[in-house]
Amino acid sequence: MRALNVDSDFVRRVALKPVPQAIGGATRLIPSLPTLWPHMLLPNANVRAESLPPPFGIRSARYWYFARNAVWHAANLFDLAGSEMLMPAYFHGVEVDALRAAGVHLVWVRVDRRMQLDLADARAKCTPRTRAIYAIHYAGFPQDLDGLSDLCRERGLFLLEDCALSLLSSHRGRWLGTVGDAAIFCLYKTLPVPNGGALVVKDRDLAFLSASHAPTLLTTASHAASQLMANLELRAGAWTTPLRTGLREAARWMARQRGAVRVSTGTQRFEVGNADLGMSALSDQIIRGLDLAAIVQRRRRNYQRLAAAFEGSSFNRDLSDGVCPLFVPLETLDKSRVLARLLARGISAIDFWRTPHPHGPALGTFPEVDALRETVLELPCHQDLEDEDIDRMIVEVRAAVRG
Ligand SMILES: Cc1ncc(COP(=O)(O)O)c(C=O)c1O
Repeated sequence: MRALNVDSDFVRRVALKPVPQAIGGATRLIPSLPTLWPHMLLPNANVRAESLPPPFGIRSARYWYFARNAVWHAANLFDLAGSEMLMPAYFHGVEVDALRAAGVHLVWVRVDRRMQLDLADARAKCTPRTRAIYAIHYAGFPQDLDGLSDLCRERGLFLLEDCALSLLSSHRGRWLGTVGDAAIFCLYKTLPVPNGGALVVKDRDLAFLSASHAPTLLTTASHAASQLMANLELRAGAWTTPLRTGLREAARWMARQRGAVRVSTGTQRFEVGNADLGMSALSDQIIRGLDLAAIVQRRRRNYQRLAAAFEGSSFNRDLSDGVCPLFVPLETLDKSRVLARLLARGISAIDFWRTPHPHGPALGTFPEVDALRETVLELPCHQDLEDEDIDRMIVEVRAAVRG
């Protein structure tokens, strides 16, 4: 990353969240990610059923701390070192780092303003060294899986589906992540878990592949505590923010005293040393107690209300059956100002993927991608948001955009 350096996503999401000045103390703070409710910490004995969405319904799924670990393991599993992979020019950055660390040569492919991979460009960029194509299902919305499958069959390519932003999403009766040869999932963006990423691979026995060690108690507990505090801020209001800040500072001080290392989620850095770090038992336990269908329903309802209010400015308004939206991509020419105003009003919108990657395509190569990075703001629509939150967001976003 150039201007906003490593960890910037995490810093913007959680750590440096300003205490909103322009709202009353009782105003609910709207977090960017789903929060952890205290009852979710109670032991839950639900058994995973085969009918659950991937990765949960797939017995051979492998879990790690991050989705980036799954990306790295997938590249190794398919022996892609030294080969070319067709890669969307619109990407987060950490998946690119993981693929580069595995020795994959990335060939950039155009993504249009509606965040769809250009298959004609992908086909044109295939060479005899091309062995795989990487598809990112942005914000929960599917790429053209039939077109991708045809291309892969035609050219003998592996299809890797990146479902980091599309857990619980399906399209025309197929779960995203079940069409490609492999799929990676990020759990903590959609679900209130402190960590978790997964890999699903078709027709391969992954018994030999597993995480070698669990995260430390400090790492898991600090993320879970932060999610619990976000829950308090949502329900009790902005007056609790100083409590959260105080607890965080105290935890950091204690960690420093003990020389403990905390592995943060939401960072933009891939470290090979963490590639075998596992998911916490707490994440597993929380997931067992969640009503996944209700989460999808709530996200869709929130998305539909927000998208309808901002018709003409958000993408993918045709929320087809099965899509589980991660957020509402709102397009605004004045992203920084709108974002600052929303944060000040207690709404944690995110400056989505603004900064180009130092090893990505040069600015100007894909003007549509440059425009997406410049204009797309991520508005939350997650399962914790009630109708009253959505109503407030509509009013605040309108005011912010009007300026
Ligand atoms: C498209 C995409 N792939 C992979 C990842 C990696 O997810 P994780 O943070 O779990 O490693 C991210 C993270 O934001 C992402 O946006």
